[in-house]
Amino acid sequence: MTVLCKICQGEKIWPPPVWLMRQAGRYLPEYNKVRKQAGSFLDLCYTPQFASEVTLQPISRFDFDAAIIFADILLIAENMNFTLSFEDKIGPIIKPKLSDYPLLKAPISIENSNLMNVMESIKLTRDRLPKEKSLIGFCGAPWTVLSYLINGTSQSKFTETIGWMEQNPKTSDEALNILIELSIEYLGLQIEAGADVIKIFDSWAGVLNANQFENWVIEPTKKIILSVKKNYPDTPIIGFPKGATNFYVDFVNKTNVDIIALDHTFSRLTAVKTLQENVVLQGNISPEILLKGGKILEDDIIENIETFRNHPFIIGLGHGILKETPPENVKKLVEIVRNHK
Ligand code: CP3
Repeated sequence: MTVLCKICQGEKIWPPPVWLMRQAGRYLPEYNKVRKQAGSFLDLCYTPQFASEVTLQPISRFDFDAAIIFADILLIAENMNFTLSFEDKIGPIIKPKLSDYPLLKAPISIENSNLMNVMESIKLTRDRLPKEKSLIGFCGAPWTVLSYLINGTSQSKFTETIGWMEQNPKTSDEALNILIELSIEYLGLQIEAGADVIKIFDSWAGVLNANQFENWVIEPTKKIILSVKKNYPDTPIIGFPKGATNFYVDFVNKTNVDIIALDHTFSRLTAVKTLQENVVLQGNISPEILLKGGKILEDDIIENIETFRNHPFIIGLGHGILKETPPENVKKLVEIVRNHK
């Protein structure tokens, strides 16, 4: 059993396991080298040799306890017949955006799509990863992926996205249902290929009110988890409803996640008091503090460990590593975690 699976069985592991979101990425020179070799970001995601290599880079360099397979939550847009590209300085671009052209075509099953390359990446990576280390597969949560399909790119005008969904309830529900079904298929295939933990990324969960959160975050996540757990009851699932701190308790109680990845804006003491009895906490160092390094980083890590230590937990970041982060700070983080008594 891998280390994150052991944690979810209630085993106390010391020092606590550590891995970071975006641990494979542009802050690493060896990533930039392979990224260049691959050509485009999408070529990197879809070429198993390259994707597996960058997945393993942070494990070789820092000895993290888990690898997260290298891919992107938006690849699935292609299964809904959208064209996806990534541009430097802009990020993802999806065409045509749903708000301009509100028509959904029949989805392409994962098994007949480019996403099967991700399964190859998983197999290659599992073969090369030490057996006690976890391999995390993932998908985007339906609401977050849909927000990109509606807007066509990264954005900040969520009132418009939400407004569009309220004016187009039929198309919105249909899109959410397609994403639920595709995600169930995708996660099952990832587990079959060798992923032993799953993470569902809901990066924009924090912009919704209570009703929207219930309908667009909790309900879809619950359906995905129920279905995945029917076939794979022993595969732990990490939820990441980023920013939705007011609804964490509800999210944990209703979706049946095994682990919650906490935002760095959330109070650790509140997490211990309101969540830790029911779920494994994945703690929440701030990416900005990791970027700064030094004494504030050390203090933050020690506070995180000391606050969570009465139950099994995981050390991580509240969001992804920033690309300006010095790799030495990441090395220091792992050292502090491993040396803390
Ligand atoms: O190491 C890992 O975390 C695994 C790989 C991974 C990536 N993206 C690689 C990536 C994972 C799990 C993701 C998830 C993802 N992708 C999310 C959810 C988490 C979050 O960050 O909130 C979202 C919203 C996306 C969509 C996405 N992908 C955006 C908005 C961007 C552009 C922003 C940016 O940082 O440039 C990407 C590109 C992306 N995905 C990069 C990486 C390493 C950088 C692109 C590059 O190398 O050129």
